[in-house]
Amino acid sequence: MCGIIGYTGAKDVSEVLLKGLARLEYRGYDSAGLAVLKDEAIRIVKKQGKLEVLAEEVKQRPIEGNTGIGHTRWATHGEPSDLNAHPHNDHTEDVAIAHNGIIENYKQLKEQLGENGHIFKSETDSEVIAHLIASEYQGDLRLAVAEAAKRLKGSFAIAAIHKKEPDRIIGIRKDSPLILGLGEEENFIASDIPAVLEHTKEVVYLENNEMVDIKKGKYTVYDEFGSQVEKISTKIEWDIKQAEKTGFKHFMLKEIFEQPEVLKQMFQKRIKNDTEVVFDELIISEDVFKKIENVIIVACGTAYHAGLTGRYMIEKYARIPVSVDTSSEFRYRDPLVDKNTLVIVISQSGETADTLAALREAKTKGAKVLAICNVLGASIARESDGVIYTHAGPEIAVASTKAYTAQLGIMYLFTHYLTKVRGKADNCPPDFLKELSQVPKLAKRMLKQYRRNENKMKGYAANFHKYYLARNNKSCFLYLGRNINYPNALEGALKLKEISYISAEGYPAGEMKHGPIALIDENPWVVCLAVKGDTYEKMLSNIQEIRARGGIIVAIVSERDSTLKGKEANYVIEIPETEEIFSPILVAIPLQLLAYHVAAEFGYDIDKPRNLAKSVTVE
Ligand code: G6P
Repeated sequence: MCGIIGYTGAKDVSEVLLKGLARLEYRGYDSAGLAVLKDEAIRIVKKQGKLEVLAEEVKQRPIEGNTGIGHTRWATHGEPSDLNAHPHNDHTEDVAIAHNGIIENYKQLKEQLGENGHIFKSETDSEVIAHLIASEYQGDLRLAVAEAAKRLKGSFAIAAIHKKEPDRIIGIRKDSPLILGLGEEENFIASDIPAVLEHTKEVVYLENNEMVDIKKGKYTVYDEFGSQVEKISTKIEWDIKQAEKTGFKHFMLKEIFEQPEVLKQMFQKRIKNDTEVVFDELIISEDVFKKIENVIIVACGTAYHAGLTGRYMIEKYARIPVSVDTSSEFRYRDPLVDKNTLVIVISQSGETADTLAALREAKTKGAKVLAICNVLGASIARESDGVIYTHAGPEIAVASTKAYTAQLGIMYLFTHYLTKVRGKADNCPPDFLKELSQVPKLAKRMLKQYRRNENKMKGYAANFHKYYLARNNKSCFLYLGRNINYPNALEGALKLKEISYISAEGYPAGEMKHGPIALIDENPWVVCLAVKGDTYEKMLSNIQEIRARGGIIVAIVSERDSTLKGKEANYVIEIPETEEIFSPILVAIPLQLLAYHVAAEFGYDIDKPRNLAKSVTVE
């Protein structure tokens, strides 16, 4: 969480930093700030609240300069406030820093520095970094940062400037991401690529513990021992349009609509002749996949739900035992993992701290680790033994949508690949890949229909809003699913609570009688995932049970199934007919839209929900 950026070149630095921060705001938006270096002085301006507050301040009181650093914050230590906002400086105002991560030993350091006369202003862990660098400074900022870093415990990506070193920024990273953007007579550092994309497509991924020294026309990368490292730059293929709303009201809506294309490209690229799956970038040998005896899927949030769905597929067709765990639990429970275990880590950002730690734990125990990741070159991708990229393009909205269905897409492909490699191709239906390739078309058709009848979904959301207010905010949502759509019940509930702050719980419908049914009276709205499939009839019985107790039913059903329409269900949402195994992607989309419209009715900031951040780089 938190986004940092640094720029040195000929352009107006505040404009570059503000624009860059706008593209990093998904990482946190509790406060934002800039530190600009000019004429042997550092001017800092920082404001609590979203970036627009800072932008307004800069508009009123422009800051001139060509070198500076910026920050957008997700608060960990210290409430969101002007004082706790970054950048921070030391009490002599010689040094300014922007930090992403957590300094675990900040209290000890603060105490030691305090004894030496350092005066602290904020409640943050990060401020200590500026003081530490200042205390180590002997005329060379790079050496001071290197010395300071040796004393820091925890995770960090830091951008630092010194008032006596014009045109110079030092960046360093440990367990938090940092990239270098290379321009013509200008250079950048940033937490993520979109921040620099408007200016350059040439980037360098910094490895853990690497440090970079940038000047206008020059950069040098050092390893943790201070030796220079030759880096190869990467040309970013996607363009800045992909990180813009392009006419949509919100990134979330844009990303929902991108799903058919993301999946179409994925299947076109990876499926050969309807019979074979190709993962070009996968460097784990087939031999490894032949020998594995069990699979553990580890992830957080939405990615965890994709993992749960993956379990159904892999167990059903590849017949390998699969367990799924949240990263934060896996890493602390001393899991039973050995060289015959394949650990699959799923992560959109590739930077989630708990997932990264789980990956390392699995590797230490001898497992092979395969990452399913969206962000190219992210830490999780680099540290795993092999990677399959989802190639969903940048996902900006905090609530994950296209990355989720792309993860599901990869789970289908990987399942097929696994069955083939293990000589069990016959376990998959012969037309598995052909049918799968149809899903993007079906999704596209569904979204077209939705566009035509947009008011229908909006109407459902508006009715819920009214209902909620009429019941003194007592209404809530329950999501029920079974079998391969049970994880979608969890995901639907997560989407809703993330962006509309309404209490929502996802449950396997069969478990309803063991607790959640006690919640049912006329207050909750119950979203029932009732598409045709093996457990369809059971789901219909559950719906009856809810109706009998007064619950409001929103049913997601297969097209042309009129069983519930105008009868047991108060609201019906149709998805195209398909084999049950291929339904999760199609079921996920209306769940995303429902959450979107409910949040819109409540008037919330959909792309930047409160308290959340897209990339959770703290544990
Ligand atoms: C955060 C985001 C979620 C995401 C989760 C895991 O909570 O808000 O949308 O699913 O992190 O992130 P990852 O990048 O590892 O998929």
